Amino acid sequence: MESVQGKNIVLGISGGIAAYKSIEVLRRLVDAGAHVAPIMTADAHRFVGPVTISALASEPLHTSLWDDTSPIPHTRLGQNADVIVVAPATARVIAAFAMGLSDDLLVATLIATRAPVVLCPAMHTEMWEHPSVVDNIALLRSRGVIIVEPQSGRLAGGDIGTGRLADPETILQAIDQVLSNNKDLAGQHVVITAGGTREPIDAVRVIANRSSGKQGYAIAEDAHSRGAHVTLISTVDIPVSSGISVVNVETAQQMQDAIAHVANSADVVIMAAAVADFRPVLSVEGKIKKDQGIPAITLEPTPDILAHLGSTKPAHQVLVGFAAETANLVDNARGKLERKNLDLIVANDVSAPGVGFTHDTNAVTILSASGEMKSVALANKRTIATAVLDSVVKVQSARRLPS
Ligand code: CTP
Repeated sequence: MESVQGKNIVLGISGGIAAYKSIEVLRRLVDAGAHVAPIMTADAHRFVGPVTISALASEPLHTSLWDDTSPIPHTRLGQNADVIVVAPATARVIAAFAMGLSDDLLVATLIATRAPVVLCPAMHTEMWEHPSVVDNIALLRSRGVIIVEPQSGRLAGGDIGTGRLADPETILQAIDQVLSNNKDLAGQHVVITAGGTREPIDAVRVIANRSSGKQGYAIAEDAHSRGAHVTLISTVDIPVSSGISVVNVETAQQMQDAIAHVANSADVVIMAAAVADFRPVLSVEGKIKKDQGIPAITLEPTPDILAHLGSTKPAHQVLVGFAAETANLVDNARGKLERKNLDLIVANDVSAPGVGFTHDTNAVTILSASGEMKSVALANKRTIATAVLDSVVKVQSARRLPS
């Protein structure tokens, strides 16, 4: 967190139960040497006390356009900021910011700044998925606002779903990324696959797997923020930062065809997708009806996309595979690394708690063709993404060294 030292950070806190988590973000930023000026909306006061925020902040707390000693607090705060972070960002603040409705100090400051803005939404699943919120988030993303996606888990009132504020670690990492301005992948074309493929049985049924695509998307976002030109070949539909090119596919064959267009020119290819190993030989055109009896489905292997990439890999390219295992993690992963001619393999034990498919967290061991091994303990998927890309950059640096 060296990047935040001495930086002016405006921390907007709006009215949601997750406001208590912003206290931890505030404390950690101040501990790391940032000048943090908090702004609380009127509703935020209902969830956390201004005394707590004031006591922890390194700069005065601001709460209103009108109560400040400065007649124009929003322009001063906005002009001085190196970054503005809103955690939690409610549906109202998101909408007001998207529409330019500067009716309180926080939104006025967001509009009166040229600093990067990091929004960390938190709300109930129904609200997060409402078309108005979806559209406002897409609009803000297209304007370059960084969205730290909410996570899934327990929400206020005991409901479970997506909408929980990202954990403080993830928020701090997004701030670190903005301020450190690390562009070590600038000018490079990074191709990433994400999600699980779906192989049709008939018009309505598929063979699928449990992959959510979240790890691949986290790698895409990290590569994008490090300056790469990113092509994301995906079977799932998750919003991404503007500037990332997304190619939607469904089957292993479609994924292979999409990769074939870009693989040769890519500097880095990362196969984070969970590709089905088998598919029905024949996909029935209509729907198989129950009265036709239990169908016998004959399977055939899908193309091994990664093995093919490994056998045709241009010399400059760094090729990365994933290995989802439930036993003999390192041995199995090393076998795949060698068989598929990879530079790196990211192995995860998907039987461990909190690891792999569907979770927001992961724990991995990254093995390299040159024999190095690095373990990353359970962390959010963006942290894992950063570790994977750090390893990619390390392979590239080693290649540049005279042998
Ligand atoms: N992969 C691929 N094409 C396939 C199957 C897998 O490109 N038809 C890629 C995955 O994207 C992943 C890597 O190969 O990066 C390893 O996938 P995994 O399913 O763990 O290994 P497999 O080679 O399929 O072996 P097994 O299922 O027996 O463990």
